[in-house]
Amino acid sequence: MKSKRLVVGNWKMYLGAVESKGLAERLAPYSKSLKYTAAWISPSFPYLSTVSQACSESPLQVGAQNVCWEAPGAFTGEVSLSSIIECGCSFAIVGHSERRSLCSETPELVAKRMSFALKSNFHVIVCVGETYEQRQKGATNTVLQSQLAPILANISTSDAERLCIAYEPVWAIGTGRYPSNAEIEEAHGFIAKQFMEKVNNAPCILYGGSVTPENFKQILAVPLVHGALVGRASLKYEQFHALIEISESCGPLH
Ligand code: PGA
Repeated sequence: MKSKRLVVGNWKMYLGAVESKGLAERLAPYSKSLKYTAAWISPSFPYLSTVSQACSESPLQVGAQNVCWEAPGAFTGEVSLSSIIECGCSFAIVGHSERRSLCSETPELVAKRMSFALKSNFHVIVCVGETYEQRQKGATNTVLQSQLAPILANISTSDAERLCIAYEPVWAIGTGRYPSNAEIEEAHGFIAKQFMEKVNNAPCILYGGSVTPENFKQILAVPLVHGALVGRASLKYEQFHALIEISESCGPLH
């Protein structure tokens, strides 16, 4: 997953049917021109099929914002991996901080979701990140370690090829605030080290949290930043297009 820079749009629960399809229909033809960037989008569950159809003739990949940790069965309100595959998905996001804080998803549950999908040869983005209070207390690495522990306990060297970690400080999501380059570099370095020690293979690591066309070039210059997970700036074609153009202007991923 590290052959190209990755720019992922997380549409959260913002866009309806018409907007989702319309945005995908503009992004799909544009994505064919990309050399150094893989563009992925993640609409709400009900629109996965429609959006996948709109992207079917293009390299734009579509993914779900969550996925169940078990095969189809008695899991009311969950959505199975086989269902999202049927809807045309090629990846899933798990452990977004909104799932962890609003829906009390634990690091163990997030790891179970990831494991099931990775073992089925699927691509997964796992989100991790600290709150502002935790950073103020100097506990960032401790928090990252506790979120990564069940992930590392359930991963093989080859699984890491299909895994992306999104470092998303909770205090940067949707706030307009974001960490310094040094803070991003330290967190990404810490994450990479944890994986190298456990499976001798560092996954792709994305930065997420208030990424905009104004700050993206500077963020992409940070070592070990392989791309971004983008919320608000992925909802409008012009802004998402601008982010992808910035990634393209940086040339190949080293
Ligand atoms: P944001 O969201 O870009 O709006 O800060 C990022 C995310 O939640 O993944």
